Amino acid sequence: MKIVIGSDHAGFQLKQEIIGKIKSAEFIDVGTNSEESCDYPDYISRVAETVQQGKADAGIAICGTGIGASLVANKFHSIRAALCFNEFMAEMSKRHNNANVLALGARVIGVDLALRIVERWLETPFEGGRHQRRLDKLASYER
Ligand code: RB5
Repeated sequence: MKIVIGSDHAGFQLKQEIIGKIKSAEFIDVGTNSEESCDYPDYISRVAETVQQGKADAGIAICGTGIGASLVANKFHSIRAALCFNEFMAEMSKRHNNANVLALGARVIGVDLALRIVERWLETPFEGGRHQRRLDKLASYER
């Protein structure tokens, strides 16, 4: 599975941990590349565009709270970004919402929990059925 991952300075360390420790995915790293202050839209937009273009199966977007990351990603057509703070949210964001971007808040959760969230999110499938009908309605608002 190919995953595009991006963060601002606040999420940089967590991004590096995820790339180094999660072995079930191949990562495309779109930056940022240091803890020097930067603007999260510049990097999260790259995550969203890479998923939109089909160059990755899904994306991970990280900032300090995860709020800015999810706001930016969800501006992009066909992106469903879910901000998750625990494994249950990660699982449901795939099962019911088929989230194609996972947003994380590096200043809100610790590294160990973040890694468990990523693993749960990557391994969980979409259930389809009635949930697809609801996602079709969601997508209708994009038109
Ligand atoms: C950066 O200081 C911080 O504002 C950013 O990482 C994020 O939390 C915004 O939503």
